[in-house]
Amino acid sequence: MNEIIKKLREQFESNLSEAKDMDSLESLRLDYLSKKGKLSDLMKELSKVPGDQKKEAGMLINSFKQEVISRYDSKKAQIIKFQEDLLIEAGESYDDSMPTERPIGSYHPITLVQRELEDIFESMGFDVEDYDEIVDDYHCFEALNIPKYHPARDMQDTYYLTSKNQLLKSHTSAAQNAILRKYGKALKEEGRPIRAVFPGRCFRNEAIDACHENTFFQMEGIMVDKDISISNLIYFMKTMLSQVFGKEVTVRLRPGFFPFVEPGFELDIQCLICEGKGCSSCKDSGWLELCPCGMIHPNVLKYGGINTEEEPYKYTGFAFGLGLTRLAMMKYGIKDIRTFNSGDLSSLSEFISR
Ligand code: PHE
Repeated sequence: MNEIIKKLREQFESNLSEAKDMDSLESLRLDYLSKKGKLSDLMKELSKVPGDQKKEAGMLINSFKQEVISRYDSKKAQIIKFQEDLLIEAGESYDDSMPTERPIGSYHPITLVQRELEDIFESMGFDVEDYDEIVDDYHCFEALNIPKYHPARDMQDTYYLTSKNQLLKSHTSAAQNAILRKYGKALKEEGRPIRAVFPGRCFRNEAIDACHENTFFQMEGIMVDKDISISNLIYFMKTMLSQVFGKEVTVRLRPGFFPFVEPGFELDIQCLICEGKGCSSCKDSGWLELCPCGMIHPNVLKYGGINTEEEPYKYTGFAFGLGLTRLAMMKYGIKDIRTFNSGDLSSLSEFISR
């Protein structure tokens, strides 16, 4: 047996040194290690060996088999390394975790804007919250001071679901009640102000064109504490928008009606392109409408379990509803809102790389 193995080893070594690529190495493997390979044949030889030498011969074959496997493995690693080196020399970067020939992915522009805003608000002490897309009538409207059959419901052409009382949330304000309830205890017991932003996808039955989509993104924010005033609202909005646009922005408030805020406003920013002089982007007005907001209506606070009247404290707060989709359009200069949900990689990746 020793002799047979010695011969086979010489043959194997010479075949191994001839194998220069993965294909020839694979045929070598089949030749020696497969079921019909030379090592299986060797095992068959074992039956011819006299009984008292069987054990020793078996051990010899086994250790030779291990030797063949380990020589094969190191040759394989050597060939792979050689091929990688060739690629690197040719100037190609090589990452074996990447599928080949595919462009590198990126985040959607709305995700980019959303994350940037979350970071800014977190740095100002806000919690970031997530909320359902399917909500009930109470949270989307009634808890926001919009009773059934109130004409203000017409402002949002809502998708009602066939299951009882359920609908696709038409604005992120639908989470206000849940957030007030979640953080109300810490406000009352520990004096921790409620500061939260909650981004989300919203749905309305819009006729779709370059400026309207039935699926869009908002980011809502609320702050509730003792003595919160409109000045606090203006301060937070100004700070946040200056960071988003990377320069000082000038804001103004106009009256706006939303049943869940009192007083309610439309917050405009001075046009960043013409600096208020008037241009085609701001329709010659010098201002861009950006964000409805206001002081949270006492009824909304009350429905959320927050005390607005009695001693010891009278709590007040502000709320705003930033149009994330709108903001992404302004930030990246996207003219057609349909781009966002188009799934069209060529147009989406165009501004992602900026
Ligand atoms: N939820 C309102 C809308 O989508 C916006 C808003 C939010 C207004 C918060 C005031 C305060 O139209």
